[in-house]
Amino acid sequence: MPSVFIKTYGCQMNERDSEAVAAQLVAKGYSLARSESAADVVLLNTCSVRDFAEQKAINKMRNVVGTARSEKRSQIVGFMGCMAQSRGRELIDKLPDVDLVLGTQKFHRAAEYLDELLAGKREKIVDVEAEAKSEATIREHLLNGSAKTSVSAFVSIMQGCNQHCTFCIVPSTRGEERSRTIPDIVAECRELVSRGVREITLLGQIVTSFGKRDHPLLDGKSAFVQLLDAVHEIDGLERVRFTSPHPKGYGDDLVEAYARLPKLCESAHIPLQSGSDRLLKLMHRGYTRERFLGVIEKLRKARPGIGITTDIIVGFPGETEADFEMTLSLCREVQFDNAYIFKYSPRRDTPAADMPDQVPQEIREERNHRLLELVNEIAARKYDTFIGQQVQILVEGPSKKNAARYTGRTRCNRIVLFDGSTRHQGQLMDVKIERTGSFTLYGDPAVVNL
Ligand code: SAH
Ligand code: F3S
Repeated sequence: MPSVFIKTYGCQMNERDSEAVAAQLVAKGYSLARSESAADVVLLNTCSVRDFAEQKAINKMRNVVGTARSEKRSQIVGFMGCMAQSRGRELIDKLPDVDLVLGTQKFHRAAEYLDELLAGKREKIVDVEAEAKSEATIREHLLNGSAKTSVSAFVSIMQGCNQHCTFCIVPSTRGEERSRTIPDIVAECRELVSRGVREITLLGQIVTSFGKRDHPLLDGKSAFVQLLDAVHEIDGLERVRFTSPHPKGYGDDLVEAYARLPKLCESAHIPLQSGSDRLLKLMHRGYTRERFLGVIEKLRKARPGIGITTDIIVGFPGETEADFEMTLSLCREVQFDNAYIFKYSPRRDTPAADMPDQVPQEIREERNHRLLELVNEIAARKYDTFIGQQVQILVEGPSKKNAARYTGRTRCNRIVLFDGSTRHQGQLMDVKIERTGSFTLYGDPAVVNL
């Protein structure tokens, strides 16, 4: 049977999609190869959010194809995911050795297409059409068989985004918002919990818009909060998370959910993008600085100690020094636990790419540097406040870097390393934090759980 190697770029949605495609292929008799050179099929699951991510995947493909050719191996190679969707056939024009281009609504057809290509029935396949109900096809998890059971799983609840932020390519690569049904999602979560999963992260490009069209408000609760309630009820599930929400989705119903639902972890990734109202408007974000600050304040009141992380873009077209300073001051005010900073990257067919006053590269670099310094300084200070504290962690397994150490996550989503063993895997346990490293806490389990 043929073997396949899938390499993933980009966000957790992509990780999840790759897992589902791998599970689908394994179910059809494929094996998973250890490296790309040992595989009969290499698939690159791509990201389009910034130009850098696209270039990385294109260079990788050049490498894969070049190595196979120099070693005289025949190999089927393909792009899937966001860049496949946005560039389509153009990718084969650029890289004629590519056999398959599989769009974001076509993952469920991967096995069928690969079979055809491997059998020599077709030479090239490009499928980036829209497909109704494709949001419900990402279901299979690699839990049994070759893969080990993990304690934490991602469940895709929706696809697409209708917000159309002016910088963002996602609405065109992922399409219109389409949500799965609550019973369908709950059934998948139950199944995962019955196989040993204890933490579930609900995934989507804009999860707070989940089910808007199909589920009316119920007792003042949005469809997303109704879903959180339903997932929260699953016996044996210990922790619920979600990503990514939109700031405008934090109505009182969601804030109250934090106060009401103990399994809902006290961490939230809430993308800010900019601290300047003028820019937020140009970005079409749909909230103001004041509204964003209000959301943070309410969340911290509902759940003291909540970990808050964010995404920020520097160098959006027209961003002045004064606008940028508004972002700096907002970061000082909020004190994010961490922030992912992105230099603005013009994307095809997005309104911002044609806006006047594009910011020169060196200014984007300089602002990136200044913001990073501030954000890291705040994050390090926040990490230090954990020293001496006792925290609950869910143990995921041996650390990738050092197998003698085990890794777990706090409820506020910080990584903790400690001296553990297989008996700790999947356990909820308390540890005392002894010291901090860069974006890591070091814990001692011996002092507790007596
Ligand atoms: N809601 C989606 C957003 C995906 S993009 C999600 O959270 O998964 C992730 C982040 O990339 C955005 O929050 C934004 O900060 C950044 N980003 C998106 N488009 C960008 C662009 N054109 N240039 C630079 N950064 C961008
Ligand atoms: Fe992109 Fe804005 Fe949606 S960042 S994914 S268009 S909320």
